[in-house]
Amino acid sequence: MTIASFNPPVRTLMGPGPSDVPPRILAALSRPTIGHLDPVFVGMMEEIKTLLQYAFQTENPLTMPVSAPGSAGMETCFANLVEPGDKVVVCRNGVFGGRMKENVELCGGTPVMVEDDWGKTVDPQKVEDTLKANPDACILAFVQAETSTGAQSDVRTLVELAHRHDCLAIVDAVTSLGGTELRVDDWQVDAVYSGTQKCLSCAPGISPVSFNERALEKLRGRSAKVQSWFMDLNLVTAYWGGGQKRTYHHTAPVNALYGLHEALLILREEGLENAWERHRRHHLALRAGLEALGMEFIVEEAHRLPQLNAVSIPAGLDDALVRSRLLNEYNLEIGAGLGTLAGKVWRIGLMGHSCRAENILLCVGALEAVLSGMGAPIETGRALAEVQRSLQG
Ligand SMILES: Cc1ncc(COP(=O)(O)O)c(C=O)c1O
Repeated sequence: MTIASFNPPVRTLMGPGPSDVPPRILAALSRPTIGHLDPVFVGMMEEIKTLLQYAFQTENPLTMPVSAPGSAGMETCFANLVEPGDKVVVCRNGVFGGRMKENVELCGGTPVMVEDDWGKTVDPQKVEDTLKANPDACILAFVQAETSTGAQSDVRTLVELAHRHDCLAIVDAVTSLGGTELRVDDWQVDAVYSGTQKCLSCAPGISPVSFNERALEKLRGRSAKVQSWFMDLNLVTAYWGGGQKRTYHHTAPVNALYGLHEALLILREEGLENAWERHRRHHLALRAGLEALGMEFIVEEAHRLPQLNAVSIPAGLDDALVRSRLLNEYNLEIGAGLGTLAGKVWRIGLMGHSCRAENILLCVGALEAVLSGMGAPIETGRALAEVQRSLQG
């Protein structure tokens, strides 16, 4: 067998992540590797922390990237904050709330579930009823941006409820960070984690996290040791903690962190609020095109995520065949449905660098060509005209 260097095709990524990585970040990733305790590198780590504080809108000193993907950020929050015997109210309105439940169980805690249908947001009334019925609960955990459905839950209201009932709030912001409003300090989120491969448009594999003082008090007051060596914040912070005095914990993914630094810089140059507005505006243009092609959103308008557009697959179309034709003929990736929505929806991402007018025109045009070719009743050119109208309006 001959094995040559791997040269991936150039795709346009409009699925649930990863999103397109812009040339500036790809260039940063390829810069010379230096030691992870090199003073120059340590200086860059401090800048990453400052840039992450901006992205999360927080002054939490413990704001840093975990050296592994979003799932590791999730585990970092649960492993550090949940002790055996703790009761944790977990909201599930899609795939990722289910993973939170498993994390609570693995930490020896007892999850109390608040269930909402897939495609709906987390219902604050159900959360309040559950918190009232479980006065011994100490944590509320939920997903802000459910990537499996495209529904956005109300962080501020849910965190307020948690605090009113003496609970910490853990928030999954993997798909929201950089794409949709998130204000960690103003909304008093206690622990939050995200990912680099969605609206930050960085390569996958890093998970920014932030913990406030209330969360750190719970960590300091633990009677049981944290069950993960790698994610134990007491140990990790010896490396990521303040100043030049760092000790070895693990070998940081040096080049991946160059990429994150560049991605966060790009976000700061654009301005966080401008980035949220760009996602909103482009979502409206994509929506105009998809609706003209006869697709319906599964989430009601007021709660839709701009960066993750889940639409039902028109009757009679072969889900896998459409996606493979988009990939093979147009180099365009869109996402399939997950879990109970598999085969029923497409998830079209507009995340970070992927969230651009040219991508919307490509996606809507390619969908029109593929669906018409399969015999779907589509008026040629109308969807693209709707996209242009929306972009110009
Ligand atoms: C909401 C949410 N949480 C957690 C994760 C897990 O992140 P990762 O795949 O980077 O481990 C994802 C990934 O898509 C996600 O969308």
